[in-house]
Amino acid sequence: MNTIESSSESSARTPVKRVLLLAYSQSGQLDRIAERIAEPLRQDDRIVVRVESLRPVRPYPFPWTFFGFLDAFPECAHMAPPPLQPLSLTGDEDFDLVILPYQVWFLAPSLPVTAFLRHPVAGKLLKGKPVVTLIACRNMWMLARDKMQLLLDACGARLLDNVVLVDPSPTMVSLFTTPLWLLSGKRDFLPGLPPAGVDEPSIDAARRFGLALRDALHESRECGAAPLLTGLKAADADPHLLFSEKVATRSFFVWGKLLRAVGEPGQARRRPFLILYLIFLIAMILTVVPVSLLIQAVLRPLMKKRFARLKQKYDAPSGCGDERMCLYGQ
Ligand SMILES: Cc1cc2nc3c(=O)[nH]c(=O)nc-3n(C[C@H](O)[C@H](O)[C@H](O)COP(=O)(O)O)c2cc1C
Repeated sequence: MNTIESSSESSARTPVKRVLLLAYSQSGQLDRIAERIAEPLRQDDRIVVRVESLRPVRPYPFPWTFFGFLDAFPECAHMAPPPLQPLSLTGDEDFDLVILPYQVWFLAPSLPVTAFLRHPVAGKLLKGKPVVTLIACRNMWMLARDKMQLLLDACGARLLDNVVLVDPSPTMVSLFTTPLWLLSGKRDFLPGLPPAGVDEPSIDAARRFGLALRDALHESRECGAAPLLTGLKAADADPHLLFSEKVATRSFFVWGKLLRAVGEPGQARRRPFLILYLIFLIAMILTVVPVSLLIQAVLRPLMKKRFARLKQKYDAPSGCGDERMCLYGQ
């Protein structure tokens, strides 16, 4: 994949625009969505798309083993990524726009993507550059987005847009279907339940973002500070999930510290503590989660303004408006 995937003769109208697309996906879901977005860019003879695939030195398995999956949370919570295989980029390349897709792992950007952003090459490549992030996950992504902002700030990058695609199933359904998918490799592991992951129509419709980016690049709007993907239902945050995200992040962090003190990722001596944590987690899901949902339901009318502010914060910068959807065939 580390090749120039589409190129063109330079045109007299506007200079050729160079786009960098990062790629890491286990099931192929995130790659497929990114590909839908990249398609209109590749098809344009004034845009060159270069893909850089991220490869951890020790690849994460897919499907995951049960303990392998659980064992990933301490490093995710502490954003302690593994080393990557050498990149084909040197950092001296000059891109007009960077598309950075990432999945959420335990409420943080996935470790291979974090590894890239902590790599010295990323610091050189992204400094001052406009970045469009693309998240595809179950539905809990808000705190990962905050962490991504810190990673991008550390590189000196400019976050122009954020696109988010989530599993459309109800939270309590995807809480089961997602792990079953990740542990079995089958989206529809349990008959009768909706398939896990982002739905096909949403993946298909992601092409609109590529069309809008293409038009923006033609007009060099990536040089400005305004988002390029407004009015396209880019991100529709549900701030009611934020409380659960905060509680879970806290517990991942505290238990993650203990587990990291006990051993390295994959070491057998972590196992008894992982089992202990699992028991703790199940107890929390059965007790604290229903109580917190109840409290939130009671307080919801009193907290309307606060939730509206949070929604605005997490929908930004691209927003959840749909006023430009008709321009791109939606
Ligand atoms: C270790 C791990 C942890 C995950 N944690 C979350 C999470 O906290 N929130 C969420 O919405 N999705 C979570 N997911 C789902 C992923 O974000 C993603 O949708 C799924 O792994 C498919 O990504 P892929 O394109 O790499 O196959 C997790 C997946 C994995 C493998």
